[in-house]
Amino acid sequence: MYNAFFGFTDNPFNLSPDPGFLYRSLQHEEALANLIYGVQSRKGFIVLSGEVGTGKTTMLECLRDFLEAQFIEFAFIFNSRITTEQFFEMIAYDLDLRCSRTSKTEVLFALNHLLLQQANEGRTTVLIIDEAHNLEWDVMEEIRLLGNLENRRGKLLQIVLAGQPELERKLDSPNLRQLKQRIVLRCNLLPFSEIETSEYISTRLEKAGMSPQTVFSPELIAEIHRRGQGIPRLINAICDNLLLTAFALESKTASFPMLDEVSADLRLEYPGVRSRQRGVPDPYAPSSFFPSAD
Ligand SMILES: Nc1ncnc2c1ncn2[C@@H]1O[C@H](COP(=O)(O)OP(=O)(O)OP(=O)(O)O)[C@@H](O)[C@H]1O
Ligand SMILES: [Mg+2]
Repeated sequence: MYNAFFGFTDNPFNLSPDPGFLYRSLQHEEALANLIYGVQSRKGFIVLSGEVGTGKTTMLECLRDFLEAQFIEFAFIFNSRITTEQFFEMIAYDLDLRCSRTSKTEVLFALNHLLLQQANEGRTTVLIIDEAHNLEWDVMEEIRLLGNLENRRGKLLQIVLAGQPELERKLDSPNLRQLKQRIVLRCNLLPFSEIETSEYISTRLEKAGMSPQTVFSPELIAEIHRRGQGIPRLINAICDNLLLTAFALESKTASFPMLDEVSADLRLEYPGVRSRQRGVPDPYAPSSFFPSAD
């Protein structure tokens, strides 16, 4: 909507997990390197955890790009609220297994055949499961069993589990002890630091065609960081709304009053928000929020 006004070639703050807009923060870089290393060295189980909106699915999409480029076979399960029957059906569908997809025995047989065939050709096969914190216990158990398949050179199936911190708690439960022991690589995504938020915003704007960016002042970015708590999805929502508001007001820059309006619209919760709503000065706020009377 505002792309032409700002001269963007693409929407800079889309909410989709698009690797084309990747900002390579140290931890995202490290997480991706871990995922790729884990797969290539046939480590077996790899876990990627992180709070809501920190970039887990984006990392998996980057891994998908890598696997496609390397012609590595993979199944990508993104809907984890599934039964064991659906689980095997999805694997069979994604890996294009020639068998009756509704028969667990047939799927397992065909999968084993594929895994061995790939291994003989010096390749591995990958199972990626997003939102793994939602998996039912019996599906988890099937995953553990799939992780047992190996030959003398390593695991035949590399399994990547990504999910919110509940996943780590789930893996701590006594009935998943065996699975937990098999996890050889873990990565955890944390919210951005203030510097990272600033780089993140600049990177996305640059990829959308604005370099250097001229819409957000450093002071405003510091406040966006605080209100978005360093969470990429929240930062995207705030920046997208700020651009829309600026466009509506025919302004090429975003301002603090616009941020206040956007924060209220998005019902953002951040330190000090309630006190300010009651008219009490916010100790965290920059002085420009509460200009002195003189
Ligand atoms: N390193 C990054 N570079 C560019 N964009 C990112 C990055 N990390 C996250 N994002 C953006 O933040 C938003 C949320 O990311 P994503 O959907 O990957 O988070 P998530 O951790 O999978 O969230 P959820 O827990 O809700 O599944 C997306 O718009 C994504 O493009
Ligand atoms: Mg996700």
